[in-house]
Amino acid sequence: MDSMNVPEVLEIKRIVEESESVKTFIFSWDFRQEVRPGQFVMVWDFRDEKPMSVSLIDPVRSEIGISIRRVGEFTGRVHGLSEGDLLGIRGPYGRGFELMGRDLLLVGGGIGMAPLAALADEATARGMRVDALVAARTADELLFLDRLEAAGVNISTCTDDGSCGFKGFAHERLLTLEGNHDMAAVCGPEPMMFQVMRILDERSVPVQLSLERYMKCAVGICGQCCLDDTGFRVCAEGPVFWSQELSRVREFGRYRRDPAGRRVPWW
Ligand SMILES: Cc1cc2nc3c(=O)[nH]c(=O)nc-3n(C[C@H](O)[C@H](O)[C@H](O)COP(=O)(O)OP(=O)(O)OC[C@H]3O[C@@H](n4cnc5c(N)ncnc54)[C@H](O)[C@@H]3O)c2cc1C
Ligand code: FES
Repeated sequence: MDSMNVPEVLEIKRIVEESESVKTFIFSWDFRQEVRPGQFVMVWDFRDEKPMSVSLIDPVRSEIGISIRRVGEFTGRVHGLSEGDLLGIRGPYGRGFELMGRDLLLVGGGIGMAPLAALADEATARGMRVDALVAARTADELLFLDRLEAAGVNISTCTDDGSCGFKGFAHERLLTLEGNHDMAAVCGPEPMMFQVMRILDERSVPVQLSLERYMKCAVGICGQCCLDDTGFRVCAEGPVFWSQELSRVREFGRYRRDPAGRRVPWW
């Protein structure tokens, strides 16, 4: 087995509380292997292992970070850890985002902003103009606003309850957002991504979307994350796909599969 597929046990160097339910865990990283925004790592707490997007890539400080939303048992246990505690990390895996042109639009919902925050850092460092539509259920759950602002990103917010910015869903806000974007990068709940993709396709804006599927091996062997019969495995050909690729994936925006492979509708 490639040594990349064996977890490396790393000390948690710093923990940043991003919101009541999201913490960023930062590790020292030697960058022997390139890490791209949109790629993910498998995180092992010595009991279970789960995929997490890389949300911070800092070769200058030799650090990477992952931002974890507390939703269940695994994420609850990781949230209970402190600086200096250990986690197993293997990866990075999958296909990340590609950047092109000068004007970038980011559309992120909830914890979907994690890979987009890393992409915003790269795009602004390259001198691109970046607009970000940051969406969440409530104002408290809007992520990375200070970090995006410090990077020079032009931010629009939208919340389901109207507690900050536009009241409504990201795709509804997108309909009123102006700008000539060369490309867009999207990550968040799949029904939201489905609507956003339709709007951007109509505007002929090239768009990349980052998908989540239940993962086991993360290296393309077990078949758990296959998308219909397209030959796409989210862990290997994704998690980032171009909209043209997803246009032939029937399950996109409609259903996902549970750990036993049964279909679970999004709606
Ligand atoms: C490519 C990718 C990147 C991700 N990036 C992030 C991230 O940056 N931050 C973050 O907080 N979450 C991320 N997730 C989701 C995260 O892996 C799950 O939310 C987490 O595993 C839930 O664990 P739990 O035991 O606490 O909750 P559970 O109660 O077990 O599950 C809560 C939800 O997470 C899903 N889930 C559980 N296990 C897995 C698994 N092995 N693979 C995929 N989904 C699972 C379940 O279907 C359920 O919808 C990502 C998932 C994928 C596939
Ligand atoms: S998780 Fe095993 S093939 Fe993708």
